Amino acid sequence: MGTSHEGFGCHNGRMMEGSGLAGRRVLLHVCGGIAAVKVPSLITALRQEGAEVRVAMTAAATSFISPLALQALSGHPVAHPGRGGAGSESGMPHVDLAQWAEAHLVVPATASTIARLACGLADDIVSATLLASRDPLLLAPAMETGMWESPATQANLQTLRGRGAHLVGPASGRLASGHVGMGRMAEPGEIVEAARLLLEPGRELQGVVVLVTAGGTREPIDPVRYLGNRSSGRMGTELARAALRRGAEVHLVTAAALPEQLPGGELVPVETASQMLDACLERLPRTRLLVMAAAVADYRLAKPFEQKLHRAEHEALDLHLEPNPDLLQELVARRPEGLRVVGFAAETEDVRSRGRDKLRRKGCDLLVANPVAGPRSAMGGDWSEAVVLYPDGREVELPWSPKSLIAGRILDLAAELLSSPGDGSEAS
Ligand code: CTP
Repeated sequence: MGTSHEGFGCHNGRMMEGSGLAGRRVLLHVCGGIAAVKVPSLITALRQEGAEVRVAMTAAATSFISPLALQALSGHPVAHPGRGGAGSESGMPHVDLAQWAEAHLVVPATASTIARLACGLADDIVSATLLASRDPLLLAPAMETGMWESPATQANLQTLRGRGAHLVGPASGRLASGHVGMGRMAEPGEIVEAARLLLEPGRELQGVVVLVTAGGTREPIDPVRYLGNRSSGRMGTELARAALRRGAEVHLVTAAALPEQLPGGELVPVETASQMLDACLERLPRTRLLVMAAAVADYRLAKPFEQKLHRAEHEALDLHLEPNPDLLQELVARRPEGLRVVGFAAETEDVRSRGRDKLRRKGCDLLVANPVAGPRSAMGGDWSEAVVLYPDGREVELPWSPKSLIAGRILDLAAELLSSPGDGSEAS
């Protein structure tokens, strides 16, 4: 059984060869947080990859790091409030910079800048440039845990994600205050890799119809209650976005409680397993790649209550459950010619062996098995780790990383399947 360890980081201190950053124009937006001290290494790493880097700073950022230092490292004058329109041909530096950049990295993305971007403010060079741009945006948040966990910050991030922004980090670790918790900025190497994935995706899925399922299905008990699970739908949403970036026609059938937006793709909100099956069956004949990331409930109430249950009327409650269909097996049984199927297995123990069993049983072309117990649980959070299993025994490990990066790697592996000969039926 061959195992390849495919990380997202550096190999021997050098980023992977064939970087998609060579010659690409990256605009760094530096905000006011102590993590700004990592920006010099980030600029150096990006330039080693061949990227052309320019820098814009908020006023607060200039208190943490000098524009002159970043000018020297980037090789270009830095835009910041103290500089006004100096050096701008049009006299409008935010317009010039938005036109120049191919991708924007906000490093560190502070709670304040995240809030201003979510609101669409344009009160300094950073927010004005980002408001004027439609190019890919990567945020590397850094802040104290309380600020990170604040409902306001999370809602703002949700808004930005819904508009297509990507996130790298934060991680858990020692913060500026000395406390240990979530909010530490991703390391420069991770940010470079995320930028590479943001800019690099080829168009290898151009025109390919990709059907992705996401989220935990909700099976009604009565009109207000349901049986559900902890799946957030994040991995499925990231897979759909990764497929869109690779040029695919994407249909995302999602049972996530709060479906995110999917600009450029079709978003089909569903609740139950049988609604999910119907939505998938309708789209299956045109589909070339099926990615079943949904956490489908295995059971449903045989007869949901028509009216709301009242506590006083039931001292104890026995619910009679019947099995839901196995959507994956149903869809594989009706697979149109050439369809490739990616299954998932979320396991609390024996991740590999249970994953292998499901790969065989469900007739997938590859199966992504991930742990959902312990500190590295894939359930609910923004990060995940996984092992991708192939019918021929091969395995590809995807180490603990943001789900957006994991999703990109899964799509790369799935795209390879589509370009390889055979119709995938050998897997069943
Ligand atoms: N799946 C499905 N329909 C179901 C249950 C699961 O299509 N009723 C799919 C999931 O989307 C996933 C794969 O099958 O791609 C594995 O799901 P999982 O819940 O891990 O497996 P189960 O079949 O439910 O097996 P078990 O209950 O033994 O874990």
